[in-house]
Amino acid sequence: MSAALDYRNLSPEVAARFERIRQRPVILSVRGLKKTYGVNGSTRTVFDGVSIDIRRREFITVIGPSGCGKSTFIRIIAGLDECSGGVALLDGREIGEPGPDRGMVFQGYTLFPWLTVKRNVMFGIEMRGKDKFTAESEARQWLDMVGLSKFEESYPHELSGGMKQRVAIARALANEPRILIMDEPFGALDAQTRAQMQSYLLQIWKKVDITVLFITHDLEEAAYLSDRIMVMGTNPGRIVEVIENPIPRPRSTAQFVSPEYLALKLRLEELIHPPIDVEEDKLPVVKLTKAGDDVE
Ligand SMILES: Nc1ncnc2c1ncn2[C@@H]1O[C@H](COP(=O)(O)OP(=O)(O)OP(=O)(O)O)[C@@H](O)[C@H]1O
Ligand SMILES: [Mg+2]
Repeated sequence: MSAALDYRNLSPEVAARFERIRQRPVILSVRGLKKTYGVNGSTRTVFDGVSIDIRRREFITVIGPSGCGKSTFIRIIAGLDECSGGVALLDGREIGEPGPDRGMVFQGYTLFPWLTVKRNVMFGIEMRGKDKFTAESEARQWLDMVGLSKFEESYPHELSGGMKQRVAIARALANEPRILIMDEPFGALDAQTRAQMQSYLLQIWKKVDITVLFITHDLEEAAYLSDRIMVMGTNPGRIVEVIENPIPRPRSTAQFVSPEYLALKLRLEELIHPPIDVEEDKLPVVKLTKAGDDVE
């Protein structure tokens, strides 16, 4: 396996961006976070020793093999699950219950099907004690931001998958959270809609003072969106590397052939798919069909 990325030939623009991010205050500080479950009388460790500082307006993606604890990690940050050790601080305060300072967007569509798009977005604003008139005007602004003004009176079942996720983003942002937590939000979308949603999300992120913690299985998505990529490993779950993303912003598809992108992708592939340790010649030879020409 090759070493970590080589940052010696970074462009001045990218080096300056890294430096700007390092100057920003830490919003989310995670120290020695641990999660265990009791299973049939024994203790199963999901992850241990997870520590990271996330800075204001950073866009962090989390990748790692299935089962390494990505969703568990962000559920703890969201206050939906309890940790078994360590601490997570948001703006210096220990995270406990869910709160309006954390917005959530999941893969499954979580809109209220019986409410219109506008009322879905108004819901959280009214829950925070704002009057109906203010909630309506704020909801309209958020729907404008995600480009869905024309659909404010539609119901969720009248929208496409991508549009539903845009409403979910508007609804999460309407609570004015400090951090937007997204668990594979575009995982159920087709490739084209997904690419469109990634571009929308970056546009929204530029306009709103928001820090994003985003789980994905898709290395290209992580490379396209993030400032840093937190790579988790499994058995036991842990952080194996946190990578500063060397691809310049604004990003475009042309960058998918740039040397920075190829180096990043190779590194991510190595970390996520370490070499298989079963030697090919030790696998049992089973032929289920009459073999024709041998394949390579
Ligand atoms: N309530 C529970 N009791 C016992 N084990 C659990 C419980 N919830 C989750 N786990 C275990 O914790 C581990 C991490 O699960 P988690 O859903 O966080 O993984 P993930 O990295 O998000 O996976 P994926 O990429 O498939 O979404 C899994 O092995 C899972 O079986
Ligand atoms: Mg998950």
